[in-house]
Amino acid sequence: MKLLDGKVVSAKLKEDIKKEAAELTIKLGRKPHLVAILVGNDGGSETYVASKMRNCQEVGFESTNFHYESTISEEALLNKIQEINQDDQIDGLIVQLPLPKHIDPEKVTEAIDYRKDVDGFHPINLGRMQRNLPCFIPATPYGILLMLDHYQLDLAGKKAVVVGRSNIVGSPMSILLGRNSNPGNCTVTLTHSKTQNLKEEVLQGDIVIAAIGRKNFVTADMVKEGAIVVDVGINRETSTETKSGFKLFGDVDFEEVSKKVSYITPVPGGVGLMTIIGLLKNTLEAAKGSIYQK
Ligand code: GUN
Repeated sequence: MKLLDGKVVSAKLKEDIKKEAAELTIKLGRKPHLVAILVGNDGGSETYVASKMRNCQEVGFESTNFHYESTISEEALLNKIQEINQDDQIDGLIVQLPLPKHIDPEKVTEAIDYRKDVDGFHPINLGRMQRNLPCFIPATPYGILLMLDHYQLDLAGKKAVVVGRSNIVGSPMSILLGRNSNPGNCTVTLTHSKTQNLKEEVLQGDIVIAAIGRKNFVTADMVKEGAIVVDVGINRETSTETKSGFKLFGDVDFEEVSKKVSYITPVPGGVGLMTIIGLLKNTLEAAKGSIYQK
């Protein structure tokens, strides 16, 4: 078994991004700029946004976080998005999900200018992704592709099984792996809560993407010998063992599954770090205007 090491790959790609950011800063006369909007006090979301902001600073981007109470109205949030859309000093905008129940995430997603949608959630970016056109690819699937590319894993013609059909990971991942591109060209099965005989489906996978959001959901008996396993889970539990007071668990039973696979991502230290790279690369592209002209 070989580890798909997010620490090693993300560190290398971060250096590349940092160099490009420095060059672009000279050219533009300002740094690439990402804005993140956070609503409410979800512990996980606060941690992720803080990490995104910290990583921006580390590669020489400007980053701004607008943090609102969970009581902010949908209208006020949409107005803020319009203001950011019109600000030509801002290249990328993300609104951290999930949002409070009284705010419609679809309205928010569609309100973001698709040219600043570095999360790749806007229907224009999703549609362009499906057609294999230049677009912003959602950060987690993008990070996974970069990881697979780094290890030069040849997936063409292989069976890919995606577990979970979320808008953020499972659904876009299934599209990307099926596209005529590299990495890609897989025969894809997208499994979900209504899938019958899930174990038999997952057992078919030469590559398995676990993105269901349930601790240790994928067990050794579900995985084919020699498969590639990508664990997207970041299930947080309180713990006295760590300084932060939390411990992260993947969607895969790493201890047992790692004994029979060819490659596997750890949690932490795997996909989570690559998600940040996906976001940073999208922000750089937005600042360059290389996907959509400014
Ligand atoms: N919540 C969980 N993952 C993500 C992400 O990639 N982007 C945003 N905006 N919210 C998330």
